[in-house]
Amino acid sequence: MPNYGDPEYWEKRYEEQKGKTFDWLEDYETLSIFIKHLISPDNRILILGCGNAELSEDMYQDGFTHIDNIDISSVVIQQMKDRNLEKNDMSWTVMDVMDLKFPNNYFDLAIDKSTIDALLCGDNAFINVAKMTKEVQRVLKVGGVYMAISYGIPDTRLEHFSWKHLNWEVSYQIIGPELDGAHYLYLCRKKEGADEICDENWEDVEATLTEGKTE
Ligand SMILES: C[S@@+](CC[C@H](N)C(=O)[O-])C[C@H]1O[C@@H](n2cnc3c(N)ncnc32)[C@H](O)[C@@H]1O
Repeated sequence: MPNYGDPEYWEKRYEEQKGKTFDWLEDYETLSIFIKHLISPDNRILILGCGNAELSEDMYQDGFTHIDNIDISSVVIQQMKDRNLEKNDMSWTVMDVMDLKFPNNYFDLAIDKSTIDALLCGDNAFINVAKMTKEVQRVLKVGGVYMAISYGIPDTRLEHFSWKHLNWEVSYQIIGPELDGAHYLYLCRKKEGADEICDENWEDVEATLTEGKTE
């Protein structure tokens, strides 16, 4: 299996895929009903690990124009910037999901479509995912939602949304065909007091996951 956790893998893959798009797992057609239920067109949206998916473009065409797209791959960010020059409200930035350069309490919705899956394939997977969730919680407004679309079953994903630096109300449902290739939609809503809870508990979580070096 390719090393989906390695940023070098993505750079090479996107060089090879120049001019193409590909949506992992699900596309806007399936996800729009959930997105429309959660936010309104004037809300701020963050796409974590956007890749060359058409999701953001489709959302933009449908009226959700305040979108910040980030990815670790400079190759794909340049490609997507070039494809979307006329979409003024949408930004494309090279950024690590573990180190977000956005203010606190800024976004209404953060969408992670299979980026958590990629991180979980890499080295230091558990601490890396915890760093991402810490950052995502920080940039979300209270009441804002982290939406993760993943092939990972709840037994392998819910633990990542319940470390004690997080104060999220978590729910999930199956999307796509149940028997063959089911995908899961996880919704994590930021609760009141989350920032304080993170400040209190992050050091412990970091120490546990760094010492444990799970995965
Ligand atoms: C499985 S692909 C999903 C792409 C896109 N979200 C989609 O649904 O088609 C994972 C994406 O995460 C990006 N990625 C991996 N590690 C990252 C990191 N630390 N920070 C930001 N993006 C990352 C990869 O470059 C890749 O574009």
